[in-house]
Amino acid sequence: MASATWRLNDDRGNAMEERDYHRFRDFLERASGIVLGEQRQYLVRSRLAPIMKEHGIDGLGLLMERMESGRSPGLKGLVIDAMTTNETSWFRDPAQFIALREQVLPEVLAKQSTRLRVWSAACSSGQEPYTLSMAMQDLRAPLRLPAMTEIVATDIAPTMLRFATQAEYCGQSAQRGITEEQRRRYFEPVQDCWRVRPEIRARVRFREMNLLDSFAALGRFDIIFCRNVLIYFSADVKTRIVQRMADVLTPQGYLFLGASESLSGVSDRFEMQRGNGAIFYRLK
Ligand SMILES: C[S@@+](CC[C@H](N)C(=O)[O-])C[C@H]1O[C@@H](n2cnc3c(N)ncnc32)[C@H](O)[C@@H]1O
Repeated sequence: MASATWRLNDDRGNAMEERDYHRFRDFLERASGIVLGEQRQYLVRSRLAPIMKEHGIDGLGLLMERMESGRSPGLKGLVIDAMTTNETSWFRDPAQFIALREQVLPEVLAKQSTRLRVWSAACSSGQEPYTLSMAMQDLRAPLRLPAMTEIVATDIAPTMLRFATQAEYCGQSAQRGITEEQRRRYFEPVQDCWRVRPEIRARVRFREMNLLDSFAALGRFDIIFCRNVLIYFSADVKTRIVQRMADVLTPQGYLFLGASESLSGVSDRFEMQRGNGAIFYRLK
């Protein structure tokens, strides 16, 4: 069906009109905060080609029209989902999980031992919130997790959340960042794959959420992991999100960012902390 295949390999490289590309960029930033650079046409083409093919849409301008007309209600969500970058792994930036277990959790639990709430604010395919649960599993006695311990894991991408909820990992996704010993301890084998053990899964609750939307329905958190997502946003959006995260943290609550991210120039409501080779932030 030639007309339904989007011109992915145009020789002159101009199948995607400049105007349509800019329109699409504006749409994506408004809808998700994700800022695309000037020359990311190839990325857009390759990420959207399967959707265009499935919906018989021949060009980015037509896709924009279809989304704006409201004739295909689920289309906007599919497009945003496809444009997200979901790179993640187990125990990503391992020093942060050691600092969490050795320094942050003992301090938080010394203040209040009846309830603990942690938010994994862009959880992708689940490795981050399950790793948090694994790190909590290994708290040193006499420290104990409160009965009311909850990890809320949110993301804008429904395909990632469906995958994460199943908690089943195969091939590379069952291997990256995890040792053989950890895999035996935290996973159970299912056919050729590995499923996160029930006691690790039990603390994690997934829900779809756009970081541009209100956090009011989530409640308050003692610790927030918001890693490797702010890098996709403009300085303005970053500042607003961090401000709203500060508002939902308990007094002196903690914020962890990705290894290449910082709060410098973003917020002065936190003080930087170092420990166990990791950097993290405490609400002032
Ligand atoms: C690179 S992954 C980071 C995963 C994990 N936090 C880590 O560090 O390994 C970025 C995630 O941010 C999500 N994301 C992008 N824009 C978002 C938004 N506006 N609201 C919520 N999640 C978003 C993507 O769907 C993706 O799963």
